[in-house]
Amino acid sequence: MSEKDFIPSSYITLKEEGIVGYTSPSNIALVKYWGKRENQIPANPSISFTLTACMTKTSVEYKKKIRKDNEFSFDLFFEDQPKEEFKPKIKTFLKRIEKYLPFLKEYHLVIKTSNTFPHSSGIASSASGMSALALCFMEMERTFSAPITDDFFNNKISFISRLGSGSACRSIEGPLVQWGETSSVEGSSNLFGVKYPYKVHDIFNNFHDTILLVDKGEKQVSSTVGHELMHGHPFASQRFEQAHENLDKLRTILAEGNLNDFIGIVESEALTLHAMMMTSHPYFILMKPNTLSIINEIWKFRQTSNTHVCFTLDAGANVHVLYPENEKDIVFPFIKEKLISFCQNGQYICDRIGLGAKKL
Ligand code: PMV
Repeated sequence: MSEKDFIPSSYITLKEEGIVGYTSPSNIALVKYWGKRENQIPANPSISFTLTACMTKTSVEYKKKIRKDNEFSFDLFFEDQPKEEFKPKIKTFLKRIEKYLPFLKEYHLVIKTSNTFPHSSGIASSASGMSALALCFMEMERTFSAPITDDFFNNKISFISRLGSGSACRSIEGPLVQWGETSSVEGSSNLFGVKYPYKVHDIFNNFHDTILLVDKGEKQVSSTVGHELMHGHPFASQRFEQAHENLDKLRTILAEGNLNDFIGIVESEALTLHAMMMTSHPYFILMKPNTLSIINEIWKFRQTSNTHVCFTLDAGANVHVLYPENEKDIVFPFIKEKLISFCQNGQYICDRIGLGAKKL
Protein backbone atom coordinates (compact mmCIF):
# COMPACT_ATOMS: atom_id res chain seq x y z
CA MET A 1 0.00 0.00 0.00
CA SER A 2 1.10 3.55 -0.55
CA GLU A 3 0.08 6.88 0.96
CA LYS A 4 -2.03 7.57 -2.12
CA ASP A 5 -4.36 4.70 -1.19
CA PHE A 6 -5.52 6.76 1.79
CA ILE A 7 -6.68 9.72 -0.28
CA PRO A 8 -10.46 9.32 -0.78
CA SER A 9 -11.79 9.78 -4.30
CA SER A 10 -15.25 11.00 -3.29
CA TYR A 11 -17.88 10.95 -0.55
CA ILE A 12 -21.48 9.86 -0.89
CA THR A 13 -22.86 12.57 1.34
CA LEU A 14 -21.44 14.97 3.89
CA LYS A 15 -23.86 14.93 6.83
CA GLU A 16 -25.05 18.29 8.19
CA GLU A 17 -24.07 17.49 11.76
CA GLY A 18 -23.32 14.68 14.16
CA ILE A 19 -21.24 13.45 17.08
CA VAL A 20 -18.67 10.66 17.31
CA GLY A 21 -16.63 9.38 20.26
CA TYR A 22 -13.90 6.88 21.10
CA THR A 23 -11.62 5.76 23.87
CA SER A 24 -8.10 4.84 22.88
CA PRO A 25 -5.34 3.46 25.11
CA SER A 26 -1.66 4.16 25.50
CA ASN A 27 0.90 1.49 24.59
CA ILE A 28 4.31 0.42 25.82
CA ALA A 29 6.98 -0.57 23.31
CA LEU A 30 8.97 -3.78 23.77
CA VAL A 31 11.22 -3.00 20.78
CA LYS A 32 11.55 0.77 20.72
CA TYR A 33 11.00 3.27 17.93
CA TRP A 34 13.67 5.95 18.20
CA GLY A 35 14.64 7.89 15.11
CA LYS A 36 12.49 8.87 12.17
CA ARG A 37 12.50 10.18 8.63
CA GLU A 38 10.19 12.82 7.17
CA ASN A 39 6.42 12.40 7.74
CA GLN A 40 6.86 10.18 10.79
CA ILE A 41 8.37 7.30 8.86
CA PRO A 42 10.20 5.21 11.48
CA ALA A 43 13.94 4.61 11.18
CA ASN A 44 13.42 1.13 12.63
CA PRO A 45 10.55 -1.28 13.30
CA SER A 46 8.94 -1.50 16.76
CA ILE A 47 6.39 -3.60 18.64
CA SER A 48 4.27 -2.76 21.68
CA PHE A 49 1.79 -4.09 24.18
CA THR A 50 -1.45 -2.17 23.95
CA LEU A 51 -2.52 -1.01 27.44
CA THR A 52 -5.96 -0.72 29.06
CA ALA A 53 -6.11 1.64 32.02
CA CYS A 54 -4.13 4.55 30.60
CA MET A 55 -6.39 5.93 27.93
CA THR A 56 -7.92 9.02 26.37
CA LYS A 57 -11.63 9.58 25.85
CA THR A 58 -12.48 11.94 22.99
CA SER A 59 -15.65 13.11 21.31
CA VAL A 60 -16.03 15.32 18.25
CA GLU A 61 -19.25 17.20 17.58
CA TYR A 62 -19.36 18.39 13.99
CA LYS A 63 -21.59 20.91 12.24
CA LYS A 64 -21.35 22.03 8.63
CA LYS A 65 -20.16 25.63 8.29
CA ILE A 66 -22.78 28.00 6.91
CA ARG A 67 -20.21 29.79 4.82
CA LYS A 68 -17.37 27.78 3.30
CA ASP A 69 -13.86 29.10 3.93
CA ASN A 70 -10.35 27.76 3.78
CA GLU A 71 -9.70 27.57 7.54
CA PHE A 72 -9.86 24.86 10.18
CA SER A 73 -12.48 25.75 12.74
CA PHE A 74 -12.55 24.01 16.11
CA ASP A 75 -13.00 24.46 19.86
CA LEU A 76 -11.02 22.33 22.22
CA PHE A 77 -11.97 21.27 25.74
CA PHE A 78 -9.64 19.28 27.98
CA GLU A 79 -11.33 17.87 31.07
CA ASP A 80 -14.31 20.19 30.43
CA GLN A 81 -12.19 23.35 30.31
CA PRO A 82 -11.25 25.28 27.13
CA LYS A 83 -7.60 24.54 26.43
CA GLU A 84 -6.06 27.15 24.12
CA GLU A 85 -2.49 25.89 24.65
CA PHE A 86 -3.31 22.51 23.06
CA LYS A 87 -4.73 24.12 19.92
CA PRO A 88 -1.51 24.69 17.91
CA LYS A 89 -0.65 20.97 18.14
CA ILE A 90 -4.12 20.01 16.92
CA LYS A 91 -3.92 22.55 14.10
CA THR A 92 -0.60 21.08 12.93
CA PHE A 93 -2.22 17.63 13.03
CA LEU A 94 -5.23 18.84 11.02
CA LYS A 95 -2.92 20.36 8.39
CA ARG A 96 -1.01 17.09 8.06
CA ILE A 97 -4.10 14.92 7.66
CA GLU A 98 -6.26 17.23 5.53
CA LYS A 99 -5.06 15.61 2.31
CA TYR A 100 -6.39 12.25 3.52
CA LEU A 101 -9.57 13.59 5.18
CA PRO A 102 -10.54 16.47 2.87
CA PHE A 103 -13.90 17.12 4.58
CA LEU A 104 -12.29 18.62 7.69
CA LYS A 105 -12.53 22.27 6.60
CA GLU A 106 -16.24 21.87 5.80
CA TYR A 107 -17.10 21.63 9.50
CA HIS A 108 -16.86 23.44 12.78
CA LEU A 109 -15.61 20.85 15.28
CA VAL A 110 -16.05 20.77 19.03
CA ILE A 111 -13.40 18.43 20.43
CA LYS A 112 -13.79 17.25 24.03
CA THR A 113 -11.06 15.12 25.50
CA SER A 114 -9.92 13.72 28.84
CA ASN A 115 -7.34 11.22 30.11
CA THR A 116 -7.77 8.51 32.73
CA PHE A 117 -4.24 9.11 33.98
CA PRO A 118 -3.17 12.27 35.78
CA HIS A 119 -2.19 15.13 33.49
CA SER A 120 1.56 15.78 33.54
CA SER A 121 2.19 12.37 35.12
CA GLY A 122 5.01 11.93 32.66
CA ILE A 123 2.89 9.29 30.88
CA ALA A 124 2.91 10.12 27.21
CA SER A 125 -0.59 11.23 26.31
CA SER A 126 0.23 11.68 22.63
CA ALA A 127 -0.28 8.00 21.73
CA SER A 128 -3.74 7.72 23.28
CA GLY A 129 -4.70 11.35 22.52
CA MET A 130 -3.78 11.39 18.84
CA SER A 131 -5.23 7.94 18.15
CA ALA A 132 -8.53 8.83 19.88
CA LEU A 133 -8.84 11.93 17.71
CA ALA A 134 -7.88 10.03 14.55
CA LEU A 135 -10.59 7.46 15.39
CA CYS A 136 -13.23 10.20 15.66
CA PHE A 137 -12.26 11.72 12.31
CA MET A 138 -12.24 8.30 10.67
CA GLU A 139 -15.69 7.54 12.09
CA MET A 140 -16.90 10.76 10.46
CA GLU A 141 -15.36 9.69 7.16
CA ARG A 142 -16.97 6.25 7.42
CA THR A 143 -20.37 7.93 7.81
CA PHE A 144 -19.80 9.95 4.64
CA SER A 145 -18.39 7.12 2.47
CA ALA A 146 -19.41 4.00 0.63
CA PRO A 147 -18.79 0.88 2.79
CA ILE A 148 -15.11 0.15 3.50
CA THR A 149 -13.57 -3.01 4.94
CA ASP A 150 -12.58 -3.20 8.63
CA ASP A 151 -8.99 -3.84 7.56
CA PHE A 152 -8.83 -0.70 5.46
CA PHE A 153 -10.56 1.29 8.22
CA ASN A 154 -8.05 0.11 10.86
CA ASN A 155 -5.06 0.70 8.59
CA LYS A 156 -6.19 4.21 7.77
CA ILE A 157 -6.88 5.09 11.44
CA SER A 158 -3.39 3.90 12.29
CA PHE A 159 -1.98 5.83 9.31
CA ILE A 160 -3.74 9.05 10.40
CA SER A 161 -2.72 8.53 14.07
CA ARG A 162 0.91 8.13 12.97
CA LEU A 163 0.81 11.60 11.46
CA GLY A 164 -0.13 12.95 14.91
CA SER A 165 2.48 11.00 16.86
CA GLY A 166 4.46 8.01 15.63
CA SER A 167 3.75 5.65 18.51
CA ALA A 168 0.01 6.52 18.36
CA CYS A 169 -0.31 4.24 15.33
CA ARG A 170 0.21 1.26 17.67
CA SER A 171 -2.79 2.06 19.93
CA ILE A 172 -5.77 1.12 17.76
CA GLU A 173 -5.72 -2.65 18.18
CA GLY A 174 -4.21 -5.13 20.61
CA PRO A 175 -2.80 -7.04 22.38
CA LEU A 176 0.43 -6.63 20.37
CA VAL A 177 0.97 -4.23 17.49
CA GLN A 178 3.95 -4.08 15.17
CA TRP A 179 4.89 -0.98 13.17
CA GLY A 180 7.65 -0.55 10.62
CA GLU A 181 8.68 -2.65 7.68
CA THR A 182 10.78 -5.66 8.62
CA SER A 183 11.37 -8.95 6.83
CA SER A 184 10.38 -11.14 9.79
CA VAL A 185 6.80 -9.77 10.00
CA GLU A 186 4.64 -10.33 6.96
CA GLY A 187 2.43 -7.37 6.09
CA SER A 188 4.50 -4.96 8.19
CA SER A 189 4.47 -1.37 6.99
CA ASN A 190 6.14 1.96 7.72
CA LEU A 191 2.79 3.66 7.10
CA PHE A 192 0.69 2.03 9.83
CA GLY A 193 0.78 -0.48 12.67
CA VAL A 194 -0.55 -4.00 12.19
CA LYS A 195 -1.95 -6.42 14.75
CA TYR A 196 0.89 -8.86 15.40
CA PRO A 197 0.08 -11.69 12.97
CA TYR A 198 1.86 -14.60 14.67
CA LYS A 199 1.16 -16.92 17.58
CA VAL A 200 1.38 -15.36 21.03
CA HIS A 201 1.65 -17.74 24.01
CA ASP A 202 -1.05 -17.70 26.71
CA ILE A 203 1.49 -16.55 29.31
CA PHE A 204 1.11 -13.06 27.81
CA ASN A 205 -2.67 -13.03 28.42
CA ASN A 206 -3.48 -10.38 31.01
CA PHE A 207 0.21 -9.43 31.29
CA HIS A 208 0.65 -6.70 33.90
CA ASP A 209 2.31 -3.31 33.54
CA THR A 210 2.55 -1.42 36.81
CA ILE A 211 3.72 2.06 35.91
CA LEU A 212 5.85 3.72 38.56
CA LEU A 213 5.69 7.50 38.37
CA VAL A 214 9.22 8.47 39.32
CA ASP A 215 9.23 11.98 37.96
CA LYS A 216 6.17 13.87 36.88
CA GLY A 217 7.98 17.00 35.74
CA GLU A 218 8.28 18.27 32.19
CA LYS A 219 10.92 16.29 30.26
CA GLN A 220 14.17 18.19 29.61
CA VAL A 221 14.28 16.89 26.05
CA SER A 222 11.14 16.09 24.05
CA SER A 223 10.71 12.91 21.98
CA THR A 224 10.67 15.07 18.85
CA VAL A 225 14.16 16.37 19.63
CA GLY A 226 15.31 12.89 20.69
CA HIS A 227 14.22 11.38 17.36
CA GLU A 228 16.04 14.21 15.54
CA LEU A 229 19.27 13.43 17.36
CA MET A 230 19.40 9.99 15.76
CA HIS A 231 20.35 11.74 12.51
CA GLY A 232 24.12 11.52 12.40
CA HIS A 233 24.20 9.55 15.66
CA PRO A 234 27.44 7.52 15.83
CA PHE A 235 25.59 4.26 16.64
CA ALA A 236 22.44 4.82 14.56
CA SER A 237 22.92 2.17 11.89
CA GLN A 238 23.88 -0.56 14.39
CA ARG A 239 20.90 0.38 16.55
CA PHE A 240 18.43 0.25 13.65
CA GLU A 241 19.84 -3.13 12.59
CA GLN A 242 19.51 -4.43 16.17
CA ALA A 243 15.80 -3.53 16.26
CA HIS A 244 15.20 -5.73 13.18
CA GLU A 245 17.14 -8.58 14.82
CA ASN A 246 15.24 -8.25 18.10
CA LEU A 247 11.91 -8.39 16.29
CA ASP A 248 13.03 -11.49 14.50
CA LYS A 249 14.08 -13.14 17.79
CA LEU A 250 10.82 -12.13 19.47
CA ARG A 251 8.81 -14.21 17.02
CA THR A 252 9.87 -17.53 18.62
CA ILE A 253 9.97 -16.07 22.13
CA LEU A 254 6.39 -14.79 21.90
CA ALA A 255 5.15 -18.04 20.37
CA GLU A 256 6.85 -20.28 22.95
CA GLY A 257 6.32 -17.98 25.93
CA ASN A 258 10.01 -18.06 26.84
CA LEU A 259 9.99 -15.38 29.55
CA ASN A 260 13.73 -15.42 30.27
CA ASP A 261 14.53 -14.58 26.66
CA PHE A 262 11.65 -12.08 26.62
CA ILE A 263 13.21 -10.27 29.58
CA GLY A 264 16.61 -10.25 27.84
CA ILE A 265 15.22 -8.40 24.86
CA VAL A 266 12.82 -6.06 26.66
CA GLU A 267 15.31 -4.80 29.26
CA SER A 268 18.09 -4.48 26.70
CA GLU A 269 15.78 -2.45 24.44
CA ALA A 270 14.91 -0.07 27.30
CA LEU A 271 18.55 0.48 28.19
CA THR A 272 19.55 0.83 24.53
CA LEU A 273 16.94 3.56 24.07
CA HIS A 274 18.48 5.50 26.95
CA ALA A 275 22.00 4.67 25.79
CA MET A 276 21.12 6.36 22.49
CA MET A 277 20.14 9.49 24.43
CA MET A 278 23.35 9.40 26.45
CA THR A 279 25.52 9.05 23.35
CA SER A 280 23.86 11.59 21.04
CA HIS A 281 25.18 15.11 20.45
CA PRO A 282 24.09 16.92 22.51
CA TYR A 283 23.79 14.09 25.06
CA PHE A 284 21.14 13.95 27.76
CA ILE A 285 19.86 11.70 30.55
CA LEU A 286 16.16 11.22 31.26
CA MET A 287 16.55 8.58 33.96
CA LYS A 288 16.63 9.76 37.57
CA PRO A 289 18.47 8.20 40.53
CA ASN A 290 15.19 6.54 41.57
CA THR A 291 14.85 4.97 38.10
CA LEU A 292 18.15 3.16 38.71
CA SER A 293 17.22 2.22 42.27
CA ILE A 294 14.03 0.59 40.98
CA ILE A 295 15.93 -1.31 38.26
CA ASN A 296 18.41 -2.63 40.83
CA GLU A 297 15.62 -3.69 43.19
CA ILE A 298 13.90 -5.55 40.34
CA TRP A 299 17.11 -7.38 39.42
CA LYS A 300 17.73 -8.35 43.07
CA PHE A 301 14.17 -9.56 43.55
CA ARG A 302 14.12 -11.52 40.31
CA GLN A 303 17.17 -13.52 41.37
CA THR A 304 15.83 -14.45 44.76
CA SER A 305 12.15 -14.91 43.91
CA ASN A 306 12.44 -17.00 40.75
CA THR A 307 9.83 -14.78 39.11
CA HIS A 308 9.87 -13.16 35.68
CA VAL A 309 9.33 -9.55 36.63
CA CYS A 310 11.17 -7.12 34.36
CA PHE A 311 11.22 -3.44 33.51
CA THR A 312 10.99 -1.24 30.49
CA LEU A 313 11.25 2.52 30.07
CA ASP A 314 9.82 5.04 27.67
CA ALA A 315 11.41 8.39 26.96
CA GLY A 316 11.35 9.51 30.59
CA ALA A 317 12.20 8.56 34.16
CA ASN A 318 9.11 6.43 34.85
CA VAL A 319 9.48 2.67 35.05
CA HIS A 320 7.05 0.15 33.55
CA VAL A 321 7.16 -3.05 35.61
CA LEU A 322 6.05 -6.03 33.52
CA TYR A 323 5.01 -9.46 34.90
CA PRO A 324 2.70 -12.34 34.04
CA GLU A 325 -0.73 -12.80 35.60
CA ASN A 326 0.30 -16.05 37.37
CA GLU A 327 3.04 -14.21 39.31
CA LYS A 328 1.01 -11.18 40.40
CA ASP A 329 0.47 -12.44 43.96
CA ILE A 330 4.23 -12.47 44.51
CA VAL A 331 5.27 -9.51 42.38
CA PHE A 332 2.65 -6.91 43.31
CA PRO A 333 3.36 -7.13 47.09
CA PHE A 334 7.07 -6.68 46.24
CA ILE A 335 6.23 -3.58 44.18
CA LYS A 336 4.19 -2.10 47.02
CA GLU A 337 6.76 -2.89 49.66
CA LYS A 338 10.00 -2.06 47.86
CA LEU A 339 9.34 0.13 44.83
CA ILE A 340 6.54 2.57 45.60
CA SER A 341 8.81 4.53 47.96
CA PHE A 342 10.85 5.56 44.88
CA CYS A 343 7.79 7.10 43.20
CA GLN A 344 6.98 10.80 43.34
CA ASN A 345 4.24 11.16 45.99
CA GLY A 346 4.01 7.34 46.03
CA GLN A 347 2.09 7.41 42.71
CA TYR A 348 1.73 4.45 40.41
CA ILE A 349 -0.79 3.10 37.88
CA CYS A 350 -1.89 -0.55 37.62
CA ASP A 351 -2.27 -1.30 33.96
CA ARG A 352 -2.30 -4.43 31.83
CA ILE A 353 -2.26 -5.58 28.26
CA GLY A 354 -5.41 -4.65 26.32
CA LEU A 355 -7.28 -4.94 23.07
CA GLY A 356 -7.28 -1.39 21.77
CA ALA A 357 -9.71 1.42 21.04
CA LYS A 358 -13.46 1.31 21.69
CA LYS A 359 -16.30 3.26 20.16
CA LEU A 360 -18.41 5.18 22.67
O1 PMV B 1 5.54 8.69 19.39
P1 PMV B 1 6.68 9.53 19.85
O2 PMV B 1 7.22 10.41 18.76
O3 PMV B 1 6.37 10.28 21.11
O4 PMV B 1 7.92 8.56 20.19
C1 PMV B 1 7.86 7.63 21.23
C2 PMV B 1 9.10 6.86 21.34
C3 PMV B 1 9.22 5.90 22.53
O5 PMV B 1 8.09 5.97 23.37
C4 PMV B 1 10.42 6.26 23.36
C5 PMV B 1 9.39 4.47 22.04
C6 PMV B 1 8.20 3.82 21.43
O6 PMV B 1 8.41 3.00 20.52
O7 PMV B 1 7.07 4.06 21.87
